[in-house]
Amino acid sequence: MTSDEIRRRFLSFFKARGHAVLPSASLVPENDPTVLFTTAGMQPLIPYLMGEQHPQGDKLVSIQKCVRTGDLEDIGDNRHFSFFEMMGNWSLGSYFKDEAITWSYQFLTSKSEGLGLDPNRLYVTCFEGDTNATKDEKSAEIWFSLGIPKSRIYFLGAEDNWWSPGDSGPSGPDTEMFYDMTKKGLGDLKKHEFLNAMQREDVIEIWNDVFMEFQKKDGKVIGKLKQQNVDTGAGVERITAVMQRKQTAYETDLFESIMKKIDDFSMIDNMKQKRIVADHIRTSVFL
Ligand code: GLY
Repeated sequence: MTSDEIRRRFLSFFKARGHAVLPSASLVPENDPTVLFTTAGMQPLIPYLMGEQHPQGDKLVSIQKCVRTGDLEDIGDNRHFSFFEMMGNWSLGSYFKDEAITWSYQFLTSKSEGLGLDPNRLYVTCFEGDTNATKDEKSAEIWFSLGIPKSRIYFLGAEDNWWSPGDSGPSGPDTEMFYDMTKKGLGDLKKHEFLNAMQREDVIEIWNDVFMEFQKKDGKVIGKLKQQNVDTGAGVERITAVMQRKQTAYETDLFESIMKKIDDFSMIDNMKQKRIVADHIRTSVFL
């Protein structure tokens, strides 16, 4: 499946479920002096996640171009990019965990409307709970009801399963979806085996659903937001690598022409350096 087809399917899937399609906002934030670049799909939506009414309604979908300078030192590995596109669907106080998780699962696995991925290669993580929020049993139950075995649902702490765009703003616990990238398939994994597979990049995170109902200020959760929101994020680059059965997005149609030009013009034969140049060219062009 080409990256264009992945983008097209994502937008039509959520449009058919009542979401208004938004264009990607500018990479230079228009009304947010707190950040230099748009770093996440939710960034242009912060006022609406905080409770303002969005002119297009309470269910939105977009593919947002993002630049994350925080990941610069990791560029060249299998999964970080300074420029990337984030597919996301949002509920602004409309649906919550049931619909968000069900739709994520359906989009990932449906052959006709979604990506047709193998459900036997999926693993999910949920928030294990702390002083800010209780253990997310609800998300785990929904995953189980959709067919994910309990042995492939792991509970992790805030460092893995709590998402916020920075020290202040809307935030919340999330559930994350991982896909087995190995040829053979890893099968059932105990928690420590799953964590090792994550380290080895044998399983990679392909999507997160953030249940954004908390507000953070100066690094601390200070209370609940006016409404329960959903903020999801699936990177086009990682999903394209999965769909085109490549180890990295650099080998997919997203990077093919850039990598070829670098080969034509340069003397670089170190793969990591080639990837860094390709990533930075793309970022510069879009900025
Ligand atoms: N959904 C949050 C993010 O990964 O951008």
